[in-house]
Amino acid sequence: MQTSAKNEHDAIVPDESSKLSKTEQVAEMFDGIAPKYDFLNHTLSMGIDRGWRQKAIESLKVCNPQTILDVATGTGDLALLATRETGAQITGVDISEGMMDVGRKKAATGNLSGKISFQWGDSAALGFADNAFDAVMCAYGVRNFEHLERGLSEMCRVMRTGGRLAILEFSKPTMPVVKQVFGFYFRHILPRLGNLVSRHGRAYTYLNESAMAFPEGENFRKILEGCGFKEVKVRPLTFGITTLYTATK
Ligand SMILES: C[S@@+](CC[C@H](N)C(=O)[O-])C[C@H]1O[C@@H](n2cnc3c(N)ncnc32)[C@H](O)[C@@H]1O
Repeated sequence: MQTSAKNEHDAIVPDESSKLSKTEQVAEMFDGIAPKYDFLNHTLSMGIDRGWRQKAIESLKVCNPQTILDVATGTGDLALLATRETGAQITGVDISEGMMDVGRKKAATGNLSGKISFQWGDSAALGFADNAFDAVMCAYGVRNFEHLERGLSEMCRVMRTGGRLAILEFSKPTMPVVKQVFGFYFRHILPRLGNLVSRHGRAYTYLNESAMAFPEGENFRKILEGCGFKEVKVRPLTFGITTLYTATK
């Protein structure tokens, strides 16, 4: 199923004054912050992201995957964990070679280069055959897609019938106090610290803006169903700071 529907959120870009497309801007931004990405990721999430990734991988195990596609693989944290946890052959695709270079080094250090391949690929047009993978996953990538629904439809196309999907994305907690504390941290502290340490003027401001605009929860469930996925489950984690979306086809 291919759709070219546009979401409001697709228009959230790192730099509104830039003439580059969202995809080009996002790739350039991640190339720029790649050397600091892992440090910032684990520090700013206070290490909680490891548990979220673990839960995403657990959800895929029911289909006993031998092949997994990791879309927007970045520096490969989810891919590395997935191959350790499942033994599956992982293909990671991303539009930022800078991010994948960090991932390639980590895979080599962990003697996992034979189990993970990193290749350039845009979610909007995945270069794989229909039904090519047992499972497809994506952590903190979908909010960056220039064409959200096209990317999700592509992820559905390349996943086999009966396969499993796992998507992690930031969401907004609704519980009082947590909502206020997290809102303050995400709006004021995280962008300042992130921009300072990454030496990128706007990367972590964009993170906040793109997460705030993302069609999360039930809205995202409807989008996933519209893109061909079935049995979509929406599971908020850690007070809803992140949501794990799982589905089959
Ligand atoms: C926040 S990082 C997440 C990386 C990794 N999945 C993780 O969990 O750490 C987002 C990644 O999405 C990639 N990305 C953004 N848009 C993409 C697209 N259209 N196709 C493939 N990758 C994309 C970026 O280059 C970046 O590496």
